[in-house]
Amino acid sequence: MRQPLVIANWKMNGLTQANNAWVETFSSLEKVSCDVVVCAPHVYLSTLSQSQSFELGAQDVNEHESGAYTGEISAAMLSDLAVKWCIVGHSERRQYYGDTNERIAQKVMSLVKAGIRPILCVGETLEERDAGQTLDVVAKQLLSVLSYVPVRELGAVAYEPIWAIGTGKTATPQSAQEVHRALREIVKNIDPEAADALRLLYGGSVKPNNALELFSMPDIDGGLIGGAALNAQDFHSICQASLTK
Ligand code: PGA
Repeated sequence: MRQPLVIANWKMNGLTQANNAWVETFSSLEKVSCDVVVCAPHVYLSTLSQSQSFELGAQDVNEHESGAYTGEISAAMLSDLAVKWCIVGHSERRQYYGDTNERIAQKVMSLVKAGIRPILCVGETLEERDAGQTLDVVAKQLLSVLSYVPVRELGAVAYEPIWAIGTGKTATPQSAQEVHRALREIVKNIDPEAADALRLLYGGSVKPNNALELFSMPDIDGGLIGGAALNAQDFHSICQASLTK
């Protein structure tokens, strides 16, 4: 059985006051039955680690253990702040900050070493989708990590079609399911038991009004939520739409 998992990705949003209000609202709402993770900007992780109503996640990590990497944050530092999860390979990092599949695999390895669960993001561009390359692209992104790290070490894999992120366009539940099923098949060929347990999340313009139909798909085990996670009520409604598989 897979317990649903819903993750907030706040990206570079929120200041102390807004974050406190978010936590207060979310904590005051009915307890949800899914696992909940909030991935906040690094500078707020320490304060947020006090909250009991979700687990704490970061949005990125440096692949090196320590050293002369000005401005970067190591996996050990995240672990020091009680961070349990970390997004890796988000398309915004791939696109703007040069994260390659190779570098992402190194980041995943450094997280695993520090006992943090990686949330690996995969997804295709609109051009790749139009060229019929979606499954090839996501398979390559996933396998490049699985050639270094056993699948059991992954906390979750998030399928996030790049054209759906922050655009208001969502993959249809059927087309998202098709990709999720393909991802699970890939993992099944490597480790069938781990494939059954692995939580595959959908991300890309998930909102309270479309979450249920996405989460009803057999291989969609929750979501990675950007824009709608900035509002605690909306995020809570999305959590409530998640289903055990
Ligand atoms: P979105 O972002 O929900 O705003 O589309 C999702 C993500 O980038 O994780």
